[in-house]
Amino acid sequence: MAKSAASSVVRCLQLLTVAAVLAGAAAGGGLSTSFYSKKCPDVQSIVRAGVASAVAAEKRMGASILRMFFHDCFVNGCDASILLDDTATFTGEKNAGPNANSVRGYEVIDAIKARVEASCNATVSCADILALAARDAVNLLGGPSWTVYLGRRDARTASQSDANANLPGPGSSLATLVTMFGNKGLSARDMTALSGAHTVGQARCATFRNRIYNDGNINATFASLRQQTCPLAGGDAALAPIDVQTPEAFDNAYYKNLMARQGLFHSDQELFNGGSQDALVKKYSGNAAMFTADFAKAMVRMGAISPLTATQGEVRLDCRKVN
Ligand code: HEM
Ligand SMILES: *[C@@H]1O[C@H](CO)[C@@H](O)[C@H](O)[C@H]1NC(C)=O
Ligand SMILES: *[C@@H]1O[C@H](CO)[C@@H](O)[C@H](O)[C@H]1NC(C)=O
Repeated sequence: MAKSAASSVVRCLQLLTVAAVLAGAAAGGGLSTSFYSKKCPDVQSIVRAGVASAVAAEKRMGASILRMFFHDCFVNGCDASILLDDTATFTGEKNAGPNANSVRGYEVIDAIKARVEASCNATVSCADILALAARDAVNLLGGPSWTVYLGRRDARTASQSDANANLPGPGSSLATLVTMFGNKGLSARDMTALSGAHTVGQARCATFRNRIYNDGNINATFASLRQQTCPLAGGDAALAPIDVQTPEAFDNAYYKNLMARQGLFHSDQELFNGGSQDALVKKYSGNAAMFTADFAKAMVRMGAISPLTATQGEVRLDCRKVN
């Protein structure tokens, strides 16, 4: 009797363990939150310090690192493929249309990687460093924090054509945005929450010129303000803040801007233009806590897009080239 009670307790604990492992896998796509806790216990503080010094030198860098992670994950998964340099015999993603002359911050990741290698060499992937750095960037700009699932490995390849095909452009319609995020396993709600990243950072005139000269659903005062530094012809590279209110703070002003028809990209304003996301935009604009909670959850889901794990890929020693 006593023996059978004891064995059913053991059995019960085994089942609970299996359930917990399955739940962990489901949340993290095969990744785990404790992946480096023995192998490289200081990795999180090293990454945090590296992002903190970059953001202290230039706030925009926080935005740039966040965008880099998005552009990594949407192109064949979060595998650091975006970090591979082109060579005479290799064409990577850095010069794809959505990345060339706009994705920045590669040297920040290099500096962090060098410190991580000095602490525990050949252990932490560039893909995981980028996932941690994106989280820290958001938090250092005043946004939420979250627990990052780890254990991604680095790709040995990259695809310029997939970067051109899988990253949405600023002229996208709502239907296109929903489809492109859906193709990555992300919901329309995830898409609208993740778009809140446009509460920080800057954009080149070429990416929003059509909107400020040709769109109908734009606040006229806002359009003429942006036209002052983004002429109809020329000035493609001139920068403007994406969030007209608080461009260096990770807050919910992006959604307030959309409601005031002050979204910078056509694609931004599509989220509040009489369509399916209007109600959610309204909620996020009035409830910052709801936005930050949804943003954090959506970042975890985005970070779990098709990771390489276990023996797939490699742990690159230099993020710019395969071993
Ligand atoms: C929904 C579809 C999206 C579109 C169409 C889009 C488009 C763009 C464009 C055109 C730029 C300016 C690039 C340039 O100046 O050449 C930009 C900047 C930026 N994007 Fe997005 N984006 C989208 C989603 C996201 C997501 C999901 C994130 C992150 C979670 C993100 C983060 C950023 C950030 C932070 C910047 C500013 C970067 C900097 O200042 O260096 N974007 N985006
Ligand atoms: C890592 O460091 C150890 C000890 O310094 C060294 O023997 C080893 O070659 C290094 N591994 C790599 C891949 O750099
Ligand atoms: C456009 O934006 C300006 C500046 O924020 C504001 O004063 C004005 O009321 C807005 N106009 C309309 C029509 O919403």
